[in-house]
Amino acid sequence: MSPVLVISRNAHVVGLVQQAWGPDGYAIAPEQFPDNVQALLVDLHGVQLPAVVVLDPEGQVSAALALAVDLDRNFHIASVLVTDQPAEVSLEAMRAGVRDIVAPDAPVDEMKRALERAASLSGPRVTQQPAATVPGAVNQRGKVVTVASPKGGVGKTTVSTNLAVGLAQRLPQSTVLVDLDIHFGDVASALNVTAEFTLPDMAHGPASQDALALKSYLYLHQTGLYVVPGSESPAAADAVTSRDVVHLLDTLATQFKYVVVDTAPGLSEHTLAVLDQTDVLVLVTSLDVPGVRGLRKELDTLRDIGLMLESRSVVLNFMHPSRGISVGDVEASIGRKVDFQIPQSNSVPISVNQGIPLLQSGSRDPVAKTLRAIVDSIETEKVGHKGRRFLDFGHKKEVTQ
Ligand SMILES: Nc1ncnc2c1ncn2[C@@H]1O[C@H](COP(=O)(O)OP(=O)(O)O)[C@@H](O)[C@H]1O
Ligand SMILES: [Mg+2]
Repeated sequence: MSPVLVISRNAHVVGLVQQAWGPDGYAIAPEQFPDNVQALLVDLHGVQLPAVVVLDPEGQVSAALALAVDLDRNFHIASVLVTDQPAEVSLEAMRAGVRDIVAPDAPVDEMKRALERAASLSGPRVTQQPAATVPGAVNQRGKVVTVASPKGGVGKTTVSTNLAVGLAQRLPQSTVLVDLDIHFGDVASALNVTAEFTLPDMAHGPASQDALALKSYLYLHQTGLYVVPGSESPAAADAVTSRDVVHLLDTLATQFKYVVVDTAPGLSEHTLAVLDQTDVLVLVTSLDVPGVRGLRKELDTLRDIGLMLESRSVVLNFMHPSRGISVGDVEASIGRKVDFQIPQSNSVPISVNQGIPLLQSGSRDPVAKTLRAIVDSIETEKVGHKGRRFLDFGHKKEVTQ
């Protein structure tokens, strides 16, 4: 049986639904009744959306009906309203797409019939509605922003989590962060997230076939950022191919304005596949000789394989005057300018250990200031997928799709 969710602060109503539907259901009792699906997802703390929602709003009928509209129109999830004043709300409830009305003291059989009817009406009408009408969806393809570096420990995850939080705070529901450090991803820990679903769940199965289904697997962080956490198990991670990754990013780009991707060090098959989908590349390096040499090699390799993105920034992390190399030295070595400099600061490990990115806590220290400047640059970046350019050395070509 498909799962039923009951939103109620009344134990009797929760019991009624349990008796009618059996164990395949769950209940939440939020103080404030959610009036849209995004608010509901926050209350669900990562639990998947159900097939049927029982709304028992008591005094908060208008919020419940607003939720019913969103569930029905945008997610094709049927709802059943519990009220002891059916005459007063029935017309409005019908207009909101509520499938049935049941009294709080109804017999179990009546609730059962209502739930069965609702369940049979719930679900796959998704094809009737283009994915672009989902809330937070974008009409144009969103921008894929990839954070990469040849080495580990240089600040990729710090930069990607902060950029994603910064973008999500500026434009709610606009951004998803994908952890593509396939084996050692630590985005979930940097955001203090314990999610039910991770990358492999979203790369395969129902989530990989439908944009709406995929959205219900994403973790909604308290900042309004959606997250695809990295796999908990190396074996499950191995089953995610670079083709799966391309498909996932493509689908997410139809739903979000920004798809921020954290990557593993170097140019693995997965990272190359991601780079091929990338609109804005953020290359991070630490201020030390091996880090800078690695970056130069990575830039050379990208050029050699014709994957030189027009829109890219170089971020120099761990800036400190006593490190013995200057920004000028770095620029001379890599043959291009450094766009952003992030100072070395204890605020970074502290925020990582707390699982609260600096931009979430509204920090004003110099690291946060630079991270905000990178967010600004992405927001104002005009280059979208359409204007994306590959400079293919040998035969220079411009791709405009
Ligand atoms: N600017 C900085 N100042 C101090 N510590 C930093 C800074 N940037 C990153 N770190 C620390 O360095 C470590 C590696 O950073 P992380 O973002 O995980 O790198 P990567 O994802 O490239 O492996 C983390 O412990 C982080 O707290
Ligand atoms: Mg990392």
